[in-house]
Amino acid sequence: MAVLLTGGAGYIGSHTALCLANAGFEPVVLDNLSNASPEAIKRVSRLTGKQIPLIEGDCTVKSDLEAVFAQYPIDQVIHFAGLKAVGESVAQPLRYYRNNLDATLTLLEVMAAHGCRQIVFSSSATVYGTNQEMPLRETFPLGCTNPYGWTKFMSEQILRDAGTADPNLSVVLLRYFNPVGAHESGEIGEDPSGIPNNLMPYICQVAKGRLKQLNVFGDDYPTHDGTGVRDYIHVMDLAEGHLAALNYAQAHRGVEVFNLGTGVGYSVLDLLHTFERVNGLRVPYRIAPRRPGDIATCYADPAKAAELLHWQTKRSLDDMCRDAWRWQSQNPMGYRTAQETDA
Ligand code: NAD
Ligand code: UD1
Repeated sequence: MAVLLTGGAGYIGSHTALCLANAGFEPVVLDNLSNASPEAIKRVSRLTGKQIPLIEGDCTVKSDLEAVFAQYPIDQVIHFAGLKAVGESVAQPLRYYRNNLDATLTLLEVMAAHGCRQIVFSSSATVYGTNQEMPLRETFPLGCTNPYGWTKFMSEQILRDAGTADPNLSVVLLRYFNPVGAHESGEIGEDPSGIPNNLMPYICQVAKGRLKQLNVFGDDYPTHDGTGVRDYIHVMDLAEGHLAALNYAQAHRGVEVFNLGTGVGYSVLDLLHTFERVNGLRVPYRIAPRRPGDIATCYADPAKAAELLHWQTKRSLDDMCRDAWRWQSQNPMGYRTAQETDA
């Protein structure tokens, strides 16, 4: 069963490729390497003992996609490809709309031309905007606060409309909460370029001494300790969610949306102190002003995924912190070598 993973060399895609290969699928990765290293897929091939094809190409370029569909018998697609930095999307909205929407549109056109009718899409909890009621359910009203979020919202709409127009299409929209951690081997993980925006990679780099201290953005939120609460999900649990989504897409037509989260919220200080405890480290921090655009609390109701996808998370916050640190300490420069970083 050949499955195309657009953006599959990235953080979530590479972990999903590993999970799919181990489950007997044949992942084929198309990535323009704008935010990924080919080393990730080399390592997935080594870990699984299966040669996973990585095609360097762009999802917004029809001929690049055509070439993949011509070469491989693609039955299903997981569409990870996209730009994902919220702050950058505010500064460069057109680049985000062009890349993320064009990728979705071009992919759907090429899939239709090749009779491929099953797609799983990487959406985000960001589409719930500033909803106050928790846990977040798939039926809640949507709204976004930045261009990145709107590209997810609009891609969801494009996929829904495509599903309405073609009743043979299977569309599974997955709204990820906060993916963290790494594969248990420590061989693959999250490799942000530059200074990380997200909490876990930032903590890891402080622990490694690459950054001086963590800035905790606000301690006056209405949460149990005043710091922001999020639904952190182990990236391997998330990867397994994609396997469940592919199985679901095989068995069902139409459009369905699922939250992929644990259903449990932890604060910034909960995460920080868990990281320190399980890894036996001290991570210096200071309380800093709130980050504009942040909300106090965000966590999923994962009941629908449990019921229909037969999927639930297995890994704890301790596992997330331990695995994130194993990856970071074994690969202080991510996929780059020290030499490349100096160059
Ligand atoms: P990532 O940046 O590691 O992976 C995305 C990949 O897409 C990268 O490898 C990049 O090189 C590639 N890419 C970008 N534009 C492309 C294009 N036009 N053609 C081909 N490849 C292209 O990000 P990730 O964390 O693995 O996220 C995967 C998907 O999940 C993204 O769509 C992201 O928006 C979404 N998502 C991520 C998170 C998160 O916290 N990581 C949360 C919610 C949703
Ligand atoms: C961010 C994105 C969201 C995306 C998600 C994916 C923003 C505003 N939102 O969510 O669109 O889907 O990543 O994981 O960027 N924090 C600190 N110090 C730091 C970094 C973060 O205190 O250096 C806090 C934040 O205030 C927040 C929590 O840690 O309370 C998690 O932050 P982060 O990892 O950036 O994720 P989100 O903001 O939830």
